[in-house]
Amino acid sequence: MELYHGNIVYSGSREDLVQFPDSYIAVQDGIVEGIYPKLPEKFAGIPVTDYADDVIIPAFSDLHVHAPQYPQRGTAMDALLHDWLHSYTFPLESRYADLEYARTVYDAFVEDMILHGTMHAVVFGTIHREASGYLIERMEKAGLRALVGKVNMDMDSPEYLCETVEESLRETEAFLEQYMSNRTAKPILTPRFAPTCSRELLKGLGKIGRKYQVGVQTHLVESLWEAQESVRLYPDCGSDTGIYEQAGLLGNGPVIGAHFIFPREDDIRLMKKYGGYAVQCPDSTMNIIAGIMRTGTLSDEGVKIGLGSDLAGGSLFGIYTQAARSVQLSKLKEFYEPDNNRAISFAQAFWMATRHGGALFGNVGSLEKGYAFDALVISKIADPFHELSPAEIVERFCYLGETRHIKARYLAGKKL
Ligand code: GUN
Ligand code: FE
Repeated sequence: MELYHGNIVYSGSREDLVQFPDSYIAVQDGIVEGIYPKLPEKFAGIPVTDYADDVIIPAFSDLHVHAPQYPQRGTAMDALLHDWLHSYTFPLESRYADLEYARTVYDAFVEDMILHGTMHAVVFGTIHREASGYLIERMEKAGLRALVGKVNMDMDSPEYLCETVEESLRETEAFLEQYMSNRTAKPILTPRFAPTCSRELLKGLGKIGRKYQVGVQTHLVESLWEAQESVRLYPDCGSDTGIYEQAGLLGNGPVIGAHFIFPREDDIRLMKKYGGYAVQCPDSTMNIIAGIMRTGTLSDEGVKIGLGSDLAGGSLFGIYTQAARSVQLSKLKEFYEPDNNRAISFAQAFWMATRHGGALFGNVGSLEKGYAFDALVISKIADPFHELSPAEIVERFCYLGETRHIKARYLAGKKL
């Protein structure tokens, strides 16, 4: 049994940020046993780790991030999605044919993810099986809870990053076979997005998805160009999301659609039907001007929404920053299109960043009894003239915080 003292904050539900000031949290075998305002008699004699005025919160979940784009973050910001991919991102991703290069980058990527307090993530690799294999092994070794994909793309891609259907399916199946029995970092199917995937490839992936009962991640209605191009290429599918349904890719496991900015009614219907997560990536959609998600309204309609850093379309790794940006963007969207969106509260953004996003990985993202103790200790960004409640300390951390404000990190009860 481990005992920690401090202020404890987590999301109870969408609008409810629960706080326990000056309390104790008991952890047994990596699982939260309970939270106590006073230390109960039964724990007498057990040493307490005292975090005093600091705040203990659940670790963050990043539902959309591109590990191979890590070297590109904060650069190449002069283009929009299509040109950004072709001018900068695709040439960079071609380098992952070189396993040595991949190792160097992926080691740094995983370290930086942990530094930023992200313990759960849905991750894109590249088309390269070996490099993507190193990435998933590295995350498994760290004990991070993750879904990691070898990317599939077989059209509208440069020759050096374009697979044949046979190759793509064979390598994907080999990737699944090798890593299906991983403990924490599991494989997921990863067709890049409709503009770079042929019908034959998607159908083949659908078969693999059914055979292995494995989910899918992709980009959905990210930009106006992408939304239009997808239905132009697949006019019979009804919507971007419909392309994946028709290929048999939905309903085999988790469904994660990054961005979801320009959904049709049919996209919304399908995401609800399959319990898919739409992922808002605030920095990314500003950087490559994809648009602003209707976060509040989509959530009200029953679409699950998580947050993503989308490195390197996005520039910052911290999901706490993306939570603050999500509130800001939802206000802008409501201001400019009052009929189209409801602004979200900070409580809702934090819920998406922790409990709601975390649900994808099991009992993580909360500090209620029975949840894994995947947690961060946040130090107060204080001023001498204004006392903050624990919940306010967390809100300020999301707006102002940096990695130096994360004083300790726990994964399955182990201090990292
Ligand atoms: N759509 C297809 N590929 C990508 C990518 O790498 N990043 C983003 N943001 N959108 C994409
Ligand atoms: Fe992306």
